[in-house]
Formats: sequence, structure tokens, C-alpha cells
Amino acid sequence: MKTAFLSFFMTQTVPTPSLQRAPSSPVVPPPVKVMGVELLGTSQAVPPTIVTNDDLSKIMDTSDEWIAQRTGIRQRRKCDPEKGESVVSLCTEALHKAIEDAGVKANEIDLVILGSVTGEMTCPATACRVAANVGAVGAGAFDLIAACCGFLYGLNIAHDLIRIGSYKTVAVIGCDVMSRVLDYSNRSVSVLFGDAAGAAILRATEDTTRGMVCGRMHADGSGWKDLYIPQQKYDIPEGVDGSAFKLGTIQMNGREVYKFAVKRFPEIIQQTLDRAGVKAHEIDHYICHQSNARMLEAARERFGIPTDKMYVNIDRYGNCSGGSVPVLLNELRGMGKCKPGDLVMFVAFGGGLTWSSALWRV
Ligand code: ACO
Repeated sequence: MKTAFLSFFMTQTVPTPSLQRAPSSPVVPPPVKVMGVELLGTSQAVPPTIVTNDDLSKIMDTSDEWIAQRTGIRQRRKCDPEKGESVVSLCTEALHKAIEDAGVKANEIDLVILGSVTGEMTCPATACRVAANVGAVGAGAFDLIAACCGFLYGLNIAHDLIRIGSYKTVAVIGCDVMSRVLDYSNRSVSVLFGDAAGAAILRATEDTTRGMVCGRMHADGSGWKDLYIPQQKYDIPEGVDGSAFKLGTIQMNGREVYKFAVKRFPEIIQQTLDRAGVKAHEIDHYICHQSNARMLEAARERFGIPTDKMYVNIDRYGNCSGGSVPVLLNELRGMGKCKPGDLVMFVAFGGGLTWSSALWRV
């Protein structure tokens, strides 16, 4: 029986699939049609609960003065899981609003990219659930981990996929529910972060003067130990006393992260200006990750940027990690800024360690 079964297959000829081409014409990728990229809509979603510095001083040894002086933060938003507030709910709200702002239909979106370090699960990607929630079924969807650079990495990738004609309408979301990974007995870290989501809808346009002039994604993993979220005891670096750590909470060497950011932040602004061949004063808006008001101020002064070109909202939201840049972008658009034709520079830096920029003619 066994022999008969095998001989049946051995005598069958497997049909060769037809390549449907003349022998002289090899299968090659189609020619690229370069497209412009339009920023069609933006949005933000933050939980309603506000936690002020004074609120924190009731549960830990801190003060409004210490936090505000060192970081510029006055308050932040915090999700209440009991009320169903989560990364999925914030991203869904943000994407709904961005779709409305862009004036597109959910089923026109063909890719959803979410930058987050606090996604609900590693499988499925949070982006898949969010896409389904808004009716973008069939769109590609994935999560991207680049900490505070998550949205900007997503923007770089989405732009280039549209630019070469692979995708037409892409949603990029940046969201973190940092309160999920904070240890409130660690005052050095827990006072810094807030919860927020922001989204942008990008679309292909025939106007090739619109889109990213230049952009870059960088990382130096040798600095991972300065900012990480250990999930198991083996994640704790050698030589570090992890006995007091709560697994699943963010660990940070604030001084080292500060040094890294102070070096990379102005460096990448300068590199981006040089690559684009523009001067600092020619940029209409700088949209920078909100990690510390002192850092933003130092960079602003160094490049001689007027205050109204480098907007700061860390006082109201804290450091929202992946949500920081898109919330800022949305607030600026809400004020009538970042109009079509404006030159806008995005900059972010964070865990990884990662840093990134994108200069856009929006
Ligand atoms: N309230 C009161 N006192 C505090 C608090 C607090 N919340 N946190 C720390 N302290 C105390 C410390 O215990 C220390 O006391 P000691 O001198 O008696 O030991 C003192 O304040 C100074 O602590 P430092 O950590 O040295 O304070 P520093 O001036 O470096 O500021 C800060 C800390 C604000 C975290 C700073 O290092 C920083 O901004 N680092 C960058 C970190 C960052 O931005 N991380 C975000 C994620 S990554 C990103 O977005 C780029």
C-alpha cells in the first residue's frame, strides 16, 4: 500500500507554473513613479484624568517646585484601566479623529503603523486591533518599537512607502500609556511621564514638492541599559542590583539619558539642516519630542530659534514617549500652524537609544 502510494507521486509530473512572459523579458519590479506625500489630517487622544505635581506629592516625596524646575512638567494625563482606557482605546479614538480630520474613508487606508512601547500584547500587534476598530480591515498593520522616536520612525517609513508608490494612504499613530509601566515608588522616573496618543494620515499626491525633504532614523543599542523595561529577571543588566525593581516597569539612568539627549538633539538638528541645505531660521516650525523643557530651551537658544517656532507642551502632558510628537503636531495644526507649504522639522530621541529627524515640506 505504502509502495503504491509513493510510486503514484513518483510517476506524477508536477506542472511548472507559467511565468506568462516572453523568454526574452525577465520578471522585474515595475518602474517607480515618484509621488509627493501630503499630510492630510492629524488628531490626538488623551485620557480625561489630570494628575498634577501636587497630586504626586501626596503619594511620594516630591514637590511641584522640584519637578517643574528640573523638567518643566506641571501635570500629565493618566489612563484609568477600570474605565477601559488603554493603548487600544486611545489609539482607536486618535485614528477615528484623524480619519475625520483628513476627510478620508477608513477603508481607503492601506497601512496602519503604530509606534509604541506599551502595546497591549506582543501578539497580536495593537495596530491590528486599532485598524479593525475603525473599519480599516484589510489594511496592513504593525507595531514599531522605537520608544520616544516611535511616531517619527513610523513617519519616515510611511513617507518612503508612499513616495515610491507602494502605498497610497497610510495612518501613523504614536501612543504610549506610560502609567502602565511606571513604578510610583520610584520618584526619579514616575514624575516624568504621561499618557497620550496622536495620529496622522498621509496620502500620495501628484505634487512632488510635498513630503519629506530629508529624514533619518538612528540607534545606538550600546546605551540600552540607560532606559529599559525589564520583563524577566534575566533582562536586568549584569552588575545592577535588581532586587528592588518591579519587573515590567521602566528603569532609567536619568543623568546618562540627559547627557545622550543633550548631545544628540542639537547634533541631529544641525545634520538635518546641513543635508537639506537650509538655515535654522528658514524652518517654520520645530516639532520636538517633549522630554525636558530645559533641553528644549538649550537647543532653541543654540540655534537662535524664536519661542513661537519651537512650541512646548510638556507642562500640560509630561513626557508622552511615542505620543509626544504627534500630539504637538496636532496642537500646532489646531492653532492654524503647519500649513501646506510650511517647512517643518520633527526631532525625537529616546530609549534604544534612538534618535531621529524628518524635515517636511508639509
Ligand atoms: N522629587 C524630588 N527629588 C527627587 C526626585 C523627585 N521626583 N527625583 C529625584 N530626586 C532627588 C534625587 O534623589 C537626588 O537627591 P540627592 O541629591 O539627595 O541624591 C536629587 O533629586 C537629584 O537627582 P538627579 O537624578 O541627579 O536629578 P537631575 O538634576 O539629574 O534631574 C532628571 C533628574 C530630571 C530625570 C534629569 O536627569 C533628566 O531630565 N534626565 C533625562 C531623562 C529623560 O528625559 N527621560 C525621559 C525618557 S527618554 C527621553 O524622552 C529622551
